[in-house]
Amino acid sequence: AQIKQVEYVKSSARPSDCPKDDRPEFAIVGRSNVGKSSLVNALVRKKEIALTSKKPGKTQVINHFLVNKSWYIVDLPGYGFANAPDSVRMDWSAFTKGYFLKRKTLVSVLLLVDASTPPQQIDLDCANWLGRNDIGMTFVFTKCDKRKAKKGNQPDENIRSFLQLTRKYYKVPPPWIMTSSVTGFGRDDLLLHMSQLRNY
Ligand code: GTP
Ligand code: MG
Repeated sequence: AQIKQVEYVKSSARPSDCPKDDRPEFAIVGRSNVGKSSLVNALVRKKEIALTSKKPGKTQVINHFLVNKSWYIVDLPGYGFANAPDSVRMDWSAFTKGYFLKRKTLVSVLLLVDASTPPQQIDLDCANWLGRNDIGMTFVFTKCDKRKAKKGNQPDENIRSFLQLTRKYYKVPPPWIMTSSVTGFGRDDLLLHMSQLRNY
């Protein structure tokens, strides 16, 4: 399950611009500051690769990174929610939704959720939308090194309530993994999980 090689492939402005081969891919999704870039860097153990993809301004692009010449990690824009009066409604851009709905090679969305804060509505909305659209998903809890009590693999209150609140969005509750990009906690679990999903 180890990562031997990673290369930046391309940034796509539309789902139709994405690579056309059949390699499986995992999309990284989450709020700004949740730790997306840090997780990609921790997974591939390269400090700069996810940063290479950073575009100034609000340009929304889909960044493909090819791993071991056999599968992709895809870095998506953070949530683009409008400040709608009812903050419950999710206003993801047609762009991002289009990617999820059209991308046949998408194995699983890795939805990153900050374990150091209680569940946020915006993350619940995202989980809800993906669940309603039957898009395969894995919850990846980030910043687990910040948990107050050192509980090893025991999920704490923030994680347990997130899992509880999202139950109703799925027929089968998604798998979930605890991680820390600071300590490397969960890295091997996540890599193993992804390799199992690719080979099912
Ligand atoms: P955007 O690119 O703005 O959407 O943010 P991002 O999701 O890529 O987050 P990024 O990886 O840039 O991390 C945001 C902040 O959280 C940085 O200050 C990181 O150092 C910190 N951070 C990320 N992962 C961890 C973690 O596992 N533990 C701790 N303690 N801090 C983390
Ligand atoms: Mg980032």
